[in-house]
Amino acid sequence: MQVPDIIIAIDGYSSTGKSSFAKIIAKEFSFLYLDSGALYRGVTLFAIENGFISDDCTIDVPGLDKAIVGLDLHFGEGGTYIGNRCIEKEIRSLEVAGKVSPIATVAEVRNFVDMKLREFGKKRRVVMDGRDIGTTVFPDAELKIFMTADPMIRAQRRAEEMRAKGDNVNIEDVLKNLQERDYIDSHRKVSPLTQAEDAIVLDNSHMTMDDQMVWIRKVISERFGC
Ligand code: CDP
Repeated sequence: MQVPDIIIAIDGYSSTGKSSFAKIIAKEFSFLYLDSGALYRGVTLFAIENGFISDDCTIDVPGLDKAIVGLDLHFGEGGTYIGNRCIEKEIRSLEVAGKVSPIATVAEVRNFVDMKLREFGKKRRVVMDGRDIGTTVFPDAELKIFMTADPMIRAQRRAEEMRAKGDNVNIEDVLKNLQERDYIDSHRKVSPLTQAEDAIVLDNSHMTMDDQMVWIRKVISERFGC
């Protein structure tokens, strides 16, 4: 299938499988995959380690604003990096998941991440997942997908994923975390999580990855005639 040089924006609720879907799309159509959530998680780890966010999620906004200016957060071999330190494992912890949504409400943090994402998107042929890609980062994306799924199914999937990595989480904590994030993400002032008007909804509660690929091939071939 010859897919043209487009931007595919995948937004949606926490743990709906956006990144797994985006990675497979990238592989199948030779697109660059960008995980915007990883950058928010990276800023969050940086904020935790440098005392810009407290245990009760009070954020030193002016301090964080200043400190991220020179923050060397980027993607490299095997995932996300700060300088030459790979932070991929740390950013997937429940501790980071518990603080990332408050951090992602900070306007300066969003500007910092948006700038990086737009730089990557210049070349097109990119699939990006997040909360505001189709609404704010790339409102001109040629294909926008909004993903959703039953919360309990999402929690089960995420708990399994974390357990497979050796993180012994319980399902109630995971469910609580994803519901809290959904709430904060949908209610924040700056770039809240909302479905773009021109996005196509994908509810994958009862779909396998193969079902999703059949679905997207059909959407792409109908829309772009390929
Ligand atoms: O856990 P999941 O894979 O669903 O989330 P993620 O994509 O890693 O994103 C983690 C958090 O970053 C979200 O809950 C949002 O608070 C924030 N985020 C955002 O605000 N905007 C984006 N474009 C991507 C993530």
